[in-house]
Amino acid sequence: MVDSFGFLSLLASPEERLKFISEMNITGKTILIRVDLNVPLDEDQNITDDTRIRAILPTIDYALDENAKIILASHMDRPQGKVVPEFSMAPVAKRLKRLLQKEVLLAPDCVGEEVKNLVSKMNGGDIMLLENLRFHPGEEQNDDEFARELAGLAEVYINDAFAVAHRAHASVVAITKFVSICGAGFLMKNELNYFYRAMEDPARPFAAIIGGAKVSSKIPAIENLMDRVDKLIIGGAMANTFLKVIYPDVGTQSLVEEDLVEKARSIMRKARDRGIKFYLPVDCVVANKFDPKAETKIATVQEVPEDWMIVDIGPATSSLFAEALQDAKTIIWNGPMGAFEIDAFSRGTYQMVNTVANSYSLTIVGGGDTDVAINKAGESSRITYISTGGGAFLQLLEGAELPGIKALQTCHERPKTAKASS
Ligand code: 3PG
Ligand code: MG
Repeated sequence: MVDSFGFLSLLASPEERLKFISEMNITGKTILIRVDLNVPLDEDQNITDDTRIRAILPTIDYALDENAKIILASHMDRPQGKVVPEFSMAPVAKRLKRLLQKEVLLAPDCVGEEVKNLVSKMNGGDIMLLENLRFHPGEEQNDDEFARELAGLAEVYINDAFAVAHRAHASVVAITKFVSICGAGFLMKNELNYFYRAMEDPARPFAAIIGGAKVSSKIPAIENLMDRVDKLIIGGAMANTFLKVIYPDVGTQSLVEEDLVEKARSIMRKARDRGIKFYLPVDCVVANKFDPKAETKIATVQEVPEDWMIVDIGPATSSLFAEALQDAKTIIWNGPMGAFEIDAFSRGTYQMVNTVANSYSLTIVGGGDTDVAINKAGESSRITYISTGGGAFLQLLEGAELPGIKALQTCHERPKTAKASS
């Protein structure tokens, strides 16, 4: 665990601080940029959301201005170390080409003679996208040999892949052992700076909204946030486990993690002892089954019909949460308020999108599917910052170290040559 996020600050000591692409001489150099272009695709390989592609354009534009030879490296999905044609980077290359209005060459692989050969023919301002890194088992194994091969393609390594910074993979961690110049891109800088502003030096009141299905996956984040926030709002199916502390019957079909009820009790006690305002749902949408065609009704949390399940927060809760957020000056939101993938269970999440979008505070949203709800509602421009990270954002919330950030912090301390061994 890290006690402080000071290393994220631009004011941090030079040893702690990350080096950014704008501080390095990359003019005319061959640079390998690790990006996270793991975008959602439909069954015909059409990109359904290109946020992650747009998010790396500032770094690419900067490198183009510096006449660098740009090699982009990313994973797509989880092909388990084998070539799976459906997970090719081809659709991404096509979209990048359109967004940049520029040729983007898709390499047939990410390492090997053919790729080296293609790189040797690059000119300043050329862009090449390597094929899916996870087609090689060495990527997820953080394998030195694979990392060395990747590193051998370039003179400078830039990590702009915040969304995969929580993975100790070869293109994120091991590669920094083999490239002499390493740094972070503009997306990484943005992600860390917004997060730092909220967590380390928030304008108060500071409110956190935590939702999603499983409380077990959010406990470390909640515990870390309790050291920092003034208000804590809990929604989503994970709220059921907290409700169970107070009400014995929350519907036999409702998702409850029985083994965490005591933990939930101690969190609520801690919140009370520390004077943190703690908000739980007061009413909910209940359904007789988890199905778009289910019968639904609104019930108070004391009166969930037996055999039914809680699938969303209710209208009184939406009002209560909106009221609680009225005076907030900083808001962090992770996780939906209900099972919003089903229309009938989505109102609470969309109400929260509105509340957060209408707020005058610094609003930061990340992790889970929260960004999907905001994009669907067309409200992304009214949120201060939407993180591109899911698991990585949650891990930051937990106060846990991100291996990808750690590698960038320490890489400039190590003597390196392309031939360095572990
Ligand atoms: C993500 O979408 O969460 C990142 O791209 C990381 O992918 P992963 O969860 O498959 O490691
Ligand atoms: Mg993930």
